[in-house]
Amino acid sequence: MKIGIIGALDCEVAQFCLDFKASETKVKGIYQGEYNGHTVYISLVGVGKVNAAANAQRLIDLFGVECVINSGVAGCTTKKLGICDVAISDKLTYHDFYPIDCLEKYSPYTSEFKADEKLVKLCENACKKLSENEENFKYAVGMIVTGDQFIEDSNVVKRLGEKYNSLCTEMEGAAVAHVCTLNEVPFVVIRAMSDNADEKADMSFQEMASVAAKHACFVAKDMIENL
Ligand code: ADE
Repeated sequence: MKIGIIGALDCEVAQFCLDFKASETKVKGIYQGEYNGHTVYISLVGVGKVNAAANAQRLIDLFGVECVINSGVAGCTTKKLGICDVAISDKLTYHDFYPIDCLEKYSPYTSEFKADEKLVKLCENACKKLSENEENFKYAVGMIVTGDQFIEDSNVVKRLGEKYNSLCTEMEGAAVAHVCTLNEVPFVVIRAMSDNADEKADMSFQEMASVAAKHACFVAKDMIENL
């Protein structure tokens, strides 16, 4: 199977590139490797929705990927998870698109993008295994929200939690989901918590992003092993 992996930052793709012995393709920023009999295309996209969308479409058009995994870190917006715990998307939406019903009235006629059930289940299984070995590890399946904003405000966290019942907030997931939905390509978003999106988010992110990103990578790899 041809699998696409999207990560915004070096620390979100580095472990995949190492483990899959990936090397850069003729397309800048897209690396090709092998894992468990699958060909994996890893795209280092940079931060934000447009970078994510453009590169999701490039993976689909130029490499014919049959599913897309967006793996990385996020700011936590739920009490269910702590730092380095993992959120798995069952659906995603934008928290900065106003009015959001433009997406419902016009193409793509939905403002929530549903992740592939089989991929979600495989991620859950991977997390279950992790939580058996690591006593304090937690995970949850639910809504992930995306916007072109690094959130570092506990009032915003409260609003996102209340309005969307979200697990976490990040800056690419819904854009990947949106493009995959338009192309009818299955996808899932896996995010490990690097911070609590509060006033200390920047410091926590600097300290924890690399470690957290490895948790998300571990889940994605286990998922691929079972595809
Ligand atoms: N990615 C990691 N932490 C984040 C935050 N607090 N806001 C947006 N994206 C993030």
